[in-house]
Amino acid sequence: MTATPKGFATALRSATPVANARIAGIGGYRPRRIVPNSEIVERIDSSDEWIRERSGIIERRWAGDGESVIDMSVMAAEPALEMAGITGSDIDAVLVATVSWPYQTPAAAPLVAERFGSKGMALDISAACAGYCHGIALANDMVRGGSAENVLVVGVERLSDFTSRDDRGTAFIFGDGAGAAVVSRSDTPGIGPTIWGSDGAQWDVISQTESWIDVHEQKLRWPHIGMQGQTVFRWAVWGMAPVAQRALDAAGVTADQLDAFVPHQANVRIIDAMVKQLKLPDGLAIARDIAYTGNTSAASVPLAMERMVRKGQIPSGGLALQIGFGAGLSYAAQVVVIP
Ligand SMILES: CC(C)(COP(=O)(O)OP(=O)(O)OC[C@H]1O[C@@H](n2cnc3c(N)ncnc32)[C@H](O)[C@@H]1OP(=O)(O)O)[C@@H](O)C(=O)NCCC(=O)NCCS
Repeated sequence: MTATPKGFATALRSATPVANARIAGIGGYRPRRIVPNSEIVERIDSSDEWIRERSGIIERRWAGDGESVIDMSVMAAEPALEMAGITGSDIDAVLVATVSWPYQTPAAAPLVAERFGSKGMALDISAACAGYCHGIALANDMVRGGSAENVLVVGVERLSDFTSRDDRGTAFIFGDGAGAAVVSRSDTPGIGPTIWGSDGAQWDVISQTESWIDVHEQKLRWPHIGMQGQTVFRWAVWGMAPVAQRALDAAGVTADQLDAFVPHQANVRIIDAMVKQLKLPDGLAIARDIAYTGNTSAASVPLAMERMVRKGQIPSGGLALQIGFGAGLSYAAQVVVIP
């Protein structure tokens, strides 16, 4: 093997300091239009009572004019940047987690970066409801590895564009919104090891109903996101609590040392089942943002945490266990220091 030139090795060593990273700021944006269950029930032959009981959802938000994926990302990111004490030109990288940006290409992230005057690296993450937690993991590795100092991570969805109003299994679940976090270099570690993975054997359990090619060639109607509800429910309840436990173990944290549990806001019954399986202590702050926000996929974890931080329900500097899971199937969980 040829010897590595000395200059290359020296340059690499100095280019990759091992730093610490933390979430330095968090923000959220909820669309103006509130959609109560009563607006949805007729077309799916349902009732407000059934939806509340089976999902915990009372209302959700649907985006309108001036609330595009880009607009919502920017409005969620602004308070996150302010909290982190940085401006747009300080952003080295933008990671946008979304499944509802309506362009095959280019990604949404470069436009978000542009709106902040940043020319930093920018790309989208397609990991559905797990996308934001993947983004936090990647941002952590980038900052720790020395390839960025400040990474803007956005979870954003306009799922109302991809939801069938007539689909009994999904019409009442999905909502729109955006959450954002700034991951910055810090003196102390603030993001624990991520436990993540996928199960492509269950690729079709939550998916767009038809491919764009089928839609075009067969002249099909606009596709939407379909879901095998019961399969997803079982996978989430039985599969995700052990993943969350592994994230706790990897971080060297026990449940009684947590200040918050912020799971993906899929369904309140899934949240309750996870709390039980993880034996989380009574009185621990549990995110239940789903009641007023619905399931906003990639936006759900940062939106839920943003609400808790803004309302002073969880302490800055405390520890939160967060987990995202969904289409792919894919999942990611980590313990983070609350900004
Ligand atoms: C979608 C979900 C709430 C449906 O609940 P469910 O109990 O599994 O519903 P089922 O499909 O088994 O149907 C049970 C009954 O409710 C009825 N039903 C289904 N959807 C309904 C609706 N929207 N309104 C009223 N009744 C409904 C069915 O007709 C059935 O009636 P029957 O017992 O008389 O035959 C549930 O499967 C779920 O929460 N899954 C996980 C979804 C999720 O979290 N997705 C996000 C993952 S990221």
